[in-house]
Amino acid sequence: MPVTRKIRVELGQRGYDVAVGVGLLDEIGTEAASFAPTGRAVIITDSNVRGLYAEPVAAACGRAGLQTHVIDFPAGEQHKNLATYGQVMEGLLGLAPPIDRGALIVALGGGVVGDLAGFVAATALRGLDFINVPTTLLAGVDAAVGGKTGVDARGGKNLIGAFHQPRAVVIDAAVLKTLPAGELGNGLAECVKHAVIRDRSLLDFIEDHAEALPAAEPPLLAELIARNVALKAAVVAGDEKEAGQRAHLNFGHTVGHAVEAAAGYSGISHGQAVALGMVAALHVAVGRGLIEPAAVRRVRNVLSALSLPVRFADVPGLPASARDPERLAEIMARDKKARAGVVRFVLPTNLGNVAVFDDVTPDQVSAAVRSLRQ
Ligand code: GLY
Repeated sequence: MPVTRKIRVELGQRGYDVAVGVGLLDEIGTEAASFAPTGRAVIITDSNVRGLYAEPVAAACGRAGLQTHVIDFPAGEQHKNLATYGQVMEGLLGLAPPIDRGALIVALGGGVVGDLAGFVAATALRGLDFINVPTTLLAGVDAAVGGKTGVDARGGKNLIGAFHQPRAVVIDAAVLKTLPAGELGNGLAECVKHAVIRDRSLLDFIEDHAEALPAAEPPLLAELIARNVALKAAVVAGDEKEAGQRAHLNFGHTVGHAVEAAAGYSGISHGQAVALGMVAALHVAVGRGLIEPAAVRRVRNVLSALSLPVRFADVPGLPASARDPERLAEIMARDKKARAGVVRFVLPTNLGNVAVFDDVTPDQVSAAVRSLRQ
């Protein structure tokens, strides 16, 4: 395999390697076969990715001697629900001959596919092995690593799910070339988040390459992905079930999720919402004397250089409800990260370090949201 980097997620017996490189899909059969003792692989993907990559992945699995099936479902977060889960599960259990516990699930796609296919793997026949093959930058640097699987419920995103670690993750930066415009920004926002919470040198790297990154050249993206995966792998290894430091990955997501929800999940992408959420959280941190205003300016400049928003006005399609501090405060109090209605904020204590605070006052939140209106 033409691997650039292999990063180990150290979770004892459940530990696994994340391979990051360029041109890995063609060779993926060998990796899949090593986790499919009864010679069957089931690729679960969505209607967008199926036409792009299901065939080459199935062919690679076939070359490695695997009997391979493909199951797809309609693309989009709105399909990450119990109904789709049920259809995919019935499709899996209806395969002929029936699959057994030696079958391997291959989750091929973005975050929605990884979450849903991972949850199918977690629950089919009381648990099948799966490998994650993310096809977006966002999934590669975030969701594909760490074992969070699940679907959305009427009451909120990701409310139904399980921790189920993959046996391997294979990230081929070459596939990111086909991402729709704007999709790369979703992943870049999470990369900036990683830099702020853990790694100031990653911020330097992103700053140095801010102009080149949106052009999505595979070797540069592979380098970026490897650095982010290494960081996320360390966080997950230290706190698999989010009892402590894994919550640091929620930096920017408290306000970000509220903005997305208030907008009805339209008119703003996840990355744009997280970018605004990070600016808001940085503003809270300055207000509490945790960091200097220069740190906020630096992160805002990086985000702008990556074409990510730093003010509501940078997202022209954003509905008025998503800019309303009272509406956002209401949604934050209902967030599953809140405890007894108290909003929990991840705030930087300097660039490269964060801590969780549960004493952020409504006035501080409101001031932070108002700062996004300037
Ligand atoms: N996306 C946050 C986490 O994996 O914990």
